[in-house]
Formats: sequence, C-alpha cells, structure tokens
Amino acid sequence: MNIGYFDIHNHILPGIDDGAQNMEETIKMLAMEYEDGVRHIIFTPHYVPSSQEEKNIERSERIHKAFLNVVKVCKEQFSDIEFFLGNELYYRNDIIKELEEKRANTMAGSRYILTEFSVNISYEELKKAMQNYLFHGYLPILAHMERYQCLYGRFERMGELKNMGCFLQMNTENFLEGFFSANKRFCTKAVKEGYIDFLGTDSHDSVKRKPTMGQAVKYLNKKVDERLIRKILYENPLEILREKY
Ligand SMILES: [Fe+2]
Repeated sequence: MNIGYFDIHNHILPGIDDGAQNMEETIKMLAMEYEDGVRHIIFTPHYVPSSQEEKNIERSERIHKAFLNVVKVCKEQFSDIEFFLGNELYYRNDIIKELEEKRANTMAGSRYILTEFSVNISYEELKKAMQNYLFHGYLPILAHMERYQCLYGRFERMGELKNMGCFLQMNTENFLEGFFSANKRFCTKAVKEGYIDFLGTDSHDSVKRKPTMGQAVKYLNKKVDERLIRKILYENPLEILREKY
C-alpha cells in the first residue's frame, strides 16, 4: 500500500450533494489532492435520512453509481490513489436504521462512521447521539469538530468524548488562516495535544472550498511532531481499513 495521506472527509463525488457538480470538477479536485500527497480517499457525500424510504433508496443507489463511475473513469489517470466509499451522516434517530439496511455507508465498509450535527447542538444531545452509535456497534468520528459551539475550546469535553470511544476530525482549512487567528491557535493546540484523530479537507469544489491538505501539512510540520502528523494522516485512517466487519 502507498504511504500517502488519507483524506477521509470530502465532497468530491460528482452530482450528489453540494460538492463537485460534474466529473470535470471531480478530476480537478483529485488532481489537487494528488499534488498535495493524498493517496487514499474516502468519499463522504452528505447523507440526510428522509422519512420517505424510496428517497433513501434512490439516494443510496445514486451514490453507489457515482462511486463506481469515478473509479472507472479516474482509475487510470490516478492509478496510485485508492478510492473508498463512505458518507457524512447527518444525525437523526433513523440514521441507525439507514446504516443497518446498508443504504447509508460506513467508512470504507468498516465499523467507523463519519457524522455531523447542527452546529448549535447541546453537549448533552451530542453525547447522547454518539452513545447511540456506540451502542449499535459503530465507531463514530465527529466531522469538523471545531464547528460545534458546545465543544469549541472545551478540551475536557473533547477528552470525555474520546474516552467514550468517539473520534474527532478537524478540517484542513483552519490551518490556512492568518498569523493572528485565534481559531488557528485553538485548532493547532487541539492537534498538538493529541485530541484530533483525523484531518479531512471537507472540500466541495476546486475554487472556493478546494482541497487544502498540502498547505495544512506544511503549516503543521512546523508546529507539531512529525510522528503525530503521520498518525493523524496515515496510521489512524489505516485503522479504518483494518476494521472490516
Ligand atoms: Fe462535509
């Protein structure tokens, strides 16, 4: 297997959500990821469960089709990037049913799942939802943890979630902010002190919300122990691939 970075959170699959709208854009984004040293990509299109079952079925089929198509079209051009499928799951009570019925995807077929919430969710609600995933045997990764008001700057809560068995993902764009950014300072501290398990680009296109793994790594290399970066960008994601059902 290639030793290259993993991007475990992105919206590169074409025509599914608010990410890449066509294959041309997907290819541009993949080229940027490649340039940045990414060699393993888990595609994570949004999955918001609907109360109408047929809508969920239709969505799930569209995602699988888009994934197979990207593999077919891009495998030659990006022969040393490995592609996997996942979802960014918007938490609702019926999300467990969607996972059990295999309409919503876990991360690369493992027990890990990537999940998001409304940014102003209370800590109690967030904890309850994460416990629900754990109770059903899933290993929840909280997407862009820096967005949640109830966690921001609260290292004791971040620690508590990790002790429960949850994982925390942070977006690369935070590390591109200016020298005086308090947010960048918080995010750097969270990585440095070992709270962050995964980084993801959460990229949506090739212009405004483009993949920024390279710039983030360049910055972190100056601030954080090299072994820690390797753990977050390679070893921890590798655990996802090892955690098959
Ligand atoms: Fe996302």
